[in-house]
Amino acid sequence: SSSVNGSPNFRRKPVIIIVVGMAGSGKTTLLHRLVCHTHLKNIRGYVMNLDPAVMTLPYAANIDVRDTVKYKEVMKQFNLGPNGGILTSLNLFATKFDEVISVIERRADQLDYVLVDTPGQIEIFTWSASGAIITEAFASTFPTVVTYVIDTPRSEDPTTFMSNMLYACSILYKTRLPLILTFNKIDVAAHQFALEWMKDFEAFQAAASSDNSYTSTLTQSLSLVLDEFYNNLKSVGVSAVSGVGMEAFFKAVEASTEEYMENY
Ligand code: GTP
Repeated sequence: SSSVNGSPNFRRKPVIIIVVGMAGSGKTTLLHRLVCHTHLKNIRGYVMNLDPAVMTLPYAANIDVRDTVKYKEVMKQFNLGPNGGILTSLNLFATKFDEVISVIERRADQLDYVLVDTPGQIEIFTWSASGAIITEAFASTFPTVVTYVIDTPRSEDPTTFMSNMLYACSILYKTRLPLILTFNKIDVAAHQFALEWMKDFEAFQAAASSDNSYTSTLTQSLSLVLDEFYNNLKSVGVSAVSGVGMEAFFKAVEASTEEYMENY
């Protein structure tokens, strides 16, 4: 393939880990946990915050969109509501993203990972021009992987599970980067059921067939379609609260980095 890693500017490190997930999936808590883990294990990393509207973060960001773009002022200046304000702030930041890349490049020898936190409203990152520009800028300079954080207890419902998988699939489709499903909150509910549903669509269909509604039938059909998607995924179970699964997470990142180096 016409891989970017053949280019002389391409570096093996740091690995960029873009963290996306539905509001409430536990992204921020997970980021905090990952930062604690890297400190503990002497893994050298940066954290980047791409949420212009977040008030407080439990971790100290090394690169923060809020240092460059003042979300409240953007709202006022362009007469925007909250979502328009976040989107426009991210657009403004994206225009200067080559500078951000340069900062990381200068520190590259001292960094293993850059963890990237994205806005709470997932679509602001996954469905915007700036999200695409930022993702592209990362992926053409460093190995880049995406992790989609899932609220495991909520996904025990087959229809919610399917919605989540379709969203994850659309992210894979848009970014074309290695994707890790991070099943979070396994201190509340183990993610074994999810692994089983992904491995065996008949098990999922059995769970989804409890009623004969249209969505249930659709859900069953979709499980066939997603079979191929599941084959190209890595999944890990974690608890951002208890800290279980951190080693597994970084192992999945490593495997995804290999995948990136081979295919992109
Ligand atoms: P946004 O800020 O809207 O993007 O949400 P978020 O995805 O960053 O979620 P956040 O980290 O704020 O967590 C949402 C809620 O889930 C909080 O009440 C957390 O305490 C809780 N939570 C996060 N991770 C876990 C976990 O591993 N286990 C349990 N039991 N609760 C968790």
